[in-house]
Amino acid sequence: MPDRFLIFLLAALIATAQVHAPPPVKGPWMDKALSPDRRAELVVEQMTLGEKLQLVHGIGMLGGRELDAESRELLTSRSNGGAGFVPGIPRLGLPDLNMADSAVGVGHAAARSRYSTALPNTLALAASWDPQLAREYGSLIGRELRDQGYNMSLAGGVNLMREPRNGRNFEYLGEDPILAGRMVGQIIRGIQSQRVMGHIKHLALNDQETGRHIANVKLDKRSMRETDLLAFEIGIKEGDPSAVLCSYNRINGEYACENRWLLTDLLKNTWGFKGFVISDWFANYSATKAALAGLDQELPGPGYFGSELRQALESGAVPMARLDDMVKRIVRAEFAAGIVDDPPVHRVVDVVRGFEVAQKVAEQSMVLLKNSGSLPFNSAALKSIAVIGMHADAGVLSGSGSGQVDPMGGNAVATPPPVTNPGSPQTEGEAIWGNVWVWHRSNPLKAIRARAPAAKVQFHDGSDKAAAAALAKSSDVAVVFAVQLAGEGFDTSLTLPYDQDALIKSVAAANPRTVVVLENGNPVAMPWINDVSAVLEAWYPGIRGAEAIAGILFGDISPSGKLPASFPRNESDLPRAAIVPVPDGRLPNPLAGIGGKLVPGAQIEPFDIDYSEKLEVGYKWFEAHDKQALFPFGHGLSYTSFAYSDVKATADGVTFTLRNVGKRAGTEIAQIYAGLPAVAGEPPRRLVGWEKVTLSPGETKTLTVRIDRQFLAIFNEAMDAWELIPGDYRFSVGGSSANATQFATVAIQ
Ligand code: BGC
Repeated sequence: MPDRFLIFLLAALIATAQVHAPPPVKGPWMDKALSPDRRAELVVEQMTLGEKLQLVHGIGMLGGRELDAESRELLTSRSNGGAGFVPGIPRLGLPDLNMADSAVGVGHAAARSRYSTALPNTLALAASWDPQLAREYGSLIGRELRDQGYNMSLAGGVNLMREPRNGRNFEYLGEDPILAGRMVGQIIRGIQSQRVMGHIKHLALNDQETGRHIANVKLDKRSMRETDLLAFEIGIKEGDPSAVLCSYNRINGEYACENRWLLTDLLKNTWGFKGFVISDWFANYSATKAALAGLDQELPGPGYFGSELRQALESGAVPMARLDDMVKRIVRAEFAAGIVDDPPVHRVVDVVRGFEVAQKVAEQSMVLLKNSGSLPFNSAALKSIAVIGMHADAGVLSGSGSGQVDPMGGNAVATPPPVTNPGSPQTEGEAIWGNVWVWHRSNPLKAIRARAPAAKVQFHDGSDKAAAAALAKSSDVAVVFAVQLAGEGFDTSLTLPYDQDALIKSVAAANPRTVVVLENGNPVAMPWINDVSAVLEAWYPGIRGAEAIAGILFGDISPSGKLPASFPRNESDLPRAAIVPVPDGRLPNPLAGIGGKLVPGAQIEPFDIDYSEKLEVGYKWFEAHDKQALFPFGHGLSYTSFAYSDVKATADGVTFTLRNVGKRAGTEIAQIYAGLPAVAGEPPRRLVGWEKVTLSPGETKTLTVRIDRQFLAIFNEAMDAWELIPGDYRFSVGGSSANATQFATVAIQ
């Protein structure tokens, strides 16, 4: 024990010694009793023009390309190695900003010989419908950022799942703006509770990866405010992030980072956002226009906010007052977050704590989609189990791109399969991120063996369908692990890659007791759904994923996750049968659109993505068009069952009774949907509230869920305000969007 203690102490001391402690600074702005606003005002008064300009752009990434010698030296000597680095001003006590991608855990840590916890992905977290759990998820990320010397997080992705094949849905929070907004708000709160700055991204409507640098999204203001932007509005209100990141795409003709309506009129003026706006990496395309629109800090380098912004200030094209505002917003956020008074100190990451949180989130986020009775397994009765599927003997899959966490001990799979991108012809993902399939070392085969020590558990990788089927036939049950990679820079399709649909069909034909476990970031179609006996959606379940899967399969845990997104039957049921492609020849190479700069002289013409489904995102589309989803939004089974009764509604809330009518304890996520008066011109129903309740067998609870008035309102474009339409509101309550069949109507004036 003393040895272990000494090693930890030594590691901590070495790490601590690497932190560059700024010399103690005396100045009125260092007075902690003053408000962050006042401190910011006082310190900005002290700054030279050069210092101000230094704070409004990063000098990180891409090996310091386009940097002068001084910046290169700063980058090598002071950056913590994350995606973003903005040098601070030591003479004024202002710290360097060290930013790390951290959507599902701190990214790119291993390069610096560090470890961080790979949590289940955020779409999985959304399936827990549990804001408290989201807070814990964020706190863990915040703590591990601090322990690794970062003071700013690049987590907080909340782009709405308008497009179920968007490669980055796995690092967002689903298709409903209220669920997504509330969950992201709590992630941010959790992160910031650790005295790390948080942010929210990608504002806005960057809802597909294909052509993201040149896409022009077309959508009317009412639809924006009630869908994609509502998720941001709620997330910002509840999470109070230090920063907002503007996205790559154009919105109704203007780049997001040059969009004055979005960044200044709406975000800063209407929503009252006091933090700063940063550009997505290379998403800034100008100096004057972006600065006047409301962009405050350009990342990762001084593409336009270096010498070009200086010239614009000197010529008067950008007023000095605007620069002061940019800088004030940045330093105010630093004071408010606590990173000036209490900077992070390198420590050894608490691995055990990370495992605990990761497993808890995984257990609460998996969704039992179908169960005709074979689950939970009875380990005493099962004599043989066939475990089938690509690398299910090695680990669990994760999503790729900037939302990837370095795998502990390296990729569990030595030769990952080549990428197949049926959904997206563009290969930006491969060019930047490699899009390697990464499996974390949480081993499903081992976890199942540990849970069924008396059974003969045999493995087949599924590459030979006949052999896999033969193994299934000779076993009591078969568990097939099916995987699909999703990630930044490409989109997916509804079809599982590598002919896994055919594999599942042959296994199910050989053994009707076939259970499918999905590891994926996006909905997939299931042409084999009627042939299998159960399906568990495990998402990208993180470093304790296999243990959580086994816990659910064997009934230690009763599943409680509910889908945060509809699973369509096929592509033709979607608003767009295919991902909107980049027109031929517009994107000369995958990187050409980035900042319009990487390929000098490249003329990048935008192409339109017309979101003609407007308000009808996800389940709202299915309901409005009388289409049945394969599995609807909000769906998820348990090992027990629940009955709803006595629904009553008032203008403030909905009351109902919930009873556990099954034989074991379980957790239900009771959902409340509202149908607005017909004159409102809305989709049939929208989610307006929910309650997560654990009940013992036979237990009954009467619950009242308060409904936020804004969640009942529509956005009136002419008034530029939210409006509550007088009339009859019909509330429905139940265990999924398709199953909310208990009603109560209330007139609201
Ligand atoms: C992504 C951001 C990410 C940034 C830094 C961009 O490509 O869109 O989400 O934070 O890179 O890695």
